[in-house]
Amino acid sequence: MKSLGYLNKYFFKYKWRLLLGIAFIICVNYVKVKMPEYFGTNFDELNEGNGERATSVMTFALYMGAGYLLLSLISGTFLFLQRQTIIIMSRLIEYDLKNEVYDQYQKLSNTFYKKNSTGDLMNRISEDVTKVRMYLGPGLMYTINLLFLSMLSIYKMVSINGYLTVIVLLPLPLMSFLIYKVSSRMNRLSGVVQTEQSHMSTLAQEYFSGIRVVKAYSRDKTVQDKFDDSSESYKEKNMRLVLVNSLFIPIIFALIGLSTLLVLYIGGLLHYSNQISQGDIIQFIFYVNMLTWPFASIGWVTSLIQRAAASQTRINEFLNEKSEIHVNCDTPFNFQGAIEFKNVSYTYKNSGIRAIQNLSFKLERNETLGIVGNTGSGKSTILGLLMRQIDPDEGEILIDGKPLKEINLKELRNQTGIVPQDVFLFSDSVGNNISFGALTDDVTEDDLIEVTKQAHVYHNIQEFKDGFDTILGERGVNLSGGQKQRVSIARALIRNPKLLLLDDSLSAVDTETEEIILKNLKERKVNASIVVSHRISSIRHANRIINISDGQKTEEGSHADLMAMNGSYAEMYQKQLVED
Ligand SMILES: Nc1ncnc2c1ncn2[C@@H]1O[C@H](COP(=O)(O)OP(=O)(O)OP(=O)(O)O)[C@@H](O)[C@H]1O
Ligand SMILES: [Mg+2]
Repeated sequence: MKSLGYLNKYFFKYKWRLLLGIAFIICVNYVKVKMPEYFGTNFDELNEGNGERATSVMTFALYMGAGYLLLSLISGTFLFLQRQTIIIMSRLIEYDLKNEVYDQYQKLSNTFYKKNSTGDLMNRISEDVTKVRMYLGPGLMYTINLLFLSMLSIYKMVSINGYLTVIVLLPLPLMSFLIYKVSSRMNRLSGVVQTEQSHMSTLAQEYFSGIRVVKAYSRDKTVQDKFDDSSESYKEKNMRLVLVNSLFIPIIFALIGLSTLLVLYIGGLLHYSNQISQGDIIQFIFYVNMLTWPFASIGWVTSLIQRAAASQTRINEFLNEKSEIHVNCDTPFNFQGAIEFKNVSYTYKNSGIRAIQNLSFKLERNETLGIVGNTGSGKSTILGLLMRQIDPDEGEILIDGKPLKEINLKELRNQTGIVPQDVFLFSDSVGNNISFGALTDDVTEDDLIEVTKQAHVYHNIQEFKDGFDTILGERGVNLSGGQKQRVSIARALIRNPKLLLLDDSLSAVDTETEEIILKNLKERKVNASIVVSHRISSIRHANRIINISDGQKTEEGSHADLMAMNGSYAEMYQKQLVED
């Protein structure tokens, strides 16, 4: 329950709505409680035959009908207003909470995203927040409602007859308890159903995105069987839920029936001993029926609050998560072009792999650094460190002579165009995918043409029927590997980067195209660029080249220097020449 305390700040934010809602709840219940009284007393007047207005049964019926309609209209109006305030408040809080969780997601570092699965992240922002909203809206509303309704009607009942009140209310707590048991079981089962469902959709999603592999290996049957199993298990769990669900209403009706019988029997006895009138019995039947739903809701609301508390605990876990990357600098920053790594080491915590070991290098303004090395040698990690997706365990990174940790990260990232190794394109138009990289919203067609020409992909886009408006499938499936890479380069260029980082971004293009792109990039004014590659042709013209092996720098120098060393770089070059 403590976790729900977190939401109090929101109650405070929407205090007027809440207070107004409570006022409406009181109004609804006040009018509701008036109804039985109105019936009971008028009935007694008719019975005794001394009422001035209710002279005949016909006029009595008309009179009662009109009265009932009027009171219903009034309480209905208040009920409408009650829902308009409290339920809307819960929706507003849900909106705020979702934004808060989303903001937090944006702040967290890559390490966090590697630790938590996408499904889990999605669940917390949708399922968990929804459960919390159920507490904020219906949970709160029914609780306050129960409080006032039972206070007002029990007061009325006791003022008619205390003994009868105690007798007829006896089954109600039992009902609350049973409903609580049923609801808890239902919640547990619906949790299981939900897990099954998310399992099923993860399965489907994975097979859809990997459909090409599935078909190429003709594993359709296996995949189909797996899905069938999952679907079957989902159905089974759901059936159990349906069974428990169907107990809900019968329990309520059985217990209302019991209370009503008690009113008629005990009330009848009391009437014969002249302690209460027939009108009083009618009032009691009304009150008992009126109290049924609120008492049933105690059980329901209790389990609802328990669920909300569990969800809020999970949400709080996320909200309390601190980003490993601390950015507390907002001084303006203008990248000049100097980068230095000083004895930097980094170990991935989750795998314990020491990806970078005691690495040092320097890059001056207007220079290009080439990084080569075997697969898994730590090249991408160097770029991750430079972009502060991760922070080094030892050593220091200097940008323009200043420690990276003291630099305004947002501005540094804004001035950097990075082409990541695994290209990610959104299922949007080619044009929008490219303008995604721009810092302004007013990207013109000319801008797009310019950068796509530089990335040597304009001629491809021109061939598409819809040009820049061509919609890409999920992750850009309708582009070739090399086209995706070049679109990704265009996205980096459109922001006019001062620092350009290419992580193996030319691996899927042929050497001729590579040469054209490299020539175009050279003509662009960037203050520094780093090119990571497996292919020496991509980096041979760089001012400096470092050769990385197992996270350590093995060789450094210009292409000519490295060739003269006749070490592993020279050997790699000879091999690649032969391959070409
Ligand atoms: N997120 C991660 N968690 C744990 N270990 C990682 C992670 N990313 C990379 N590694 C490990 O760190 C080492 C360096 O990886 P890195 O991606 O920097 O290599 P790379 O030189 O870019 O390789 P490639 O040429 O294949 O892209 C590898 O051994 C890899 O297994
Ligand atoms: Mg890499």
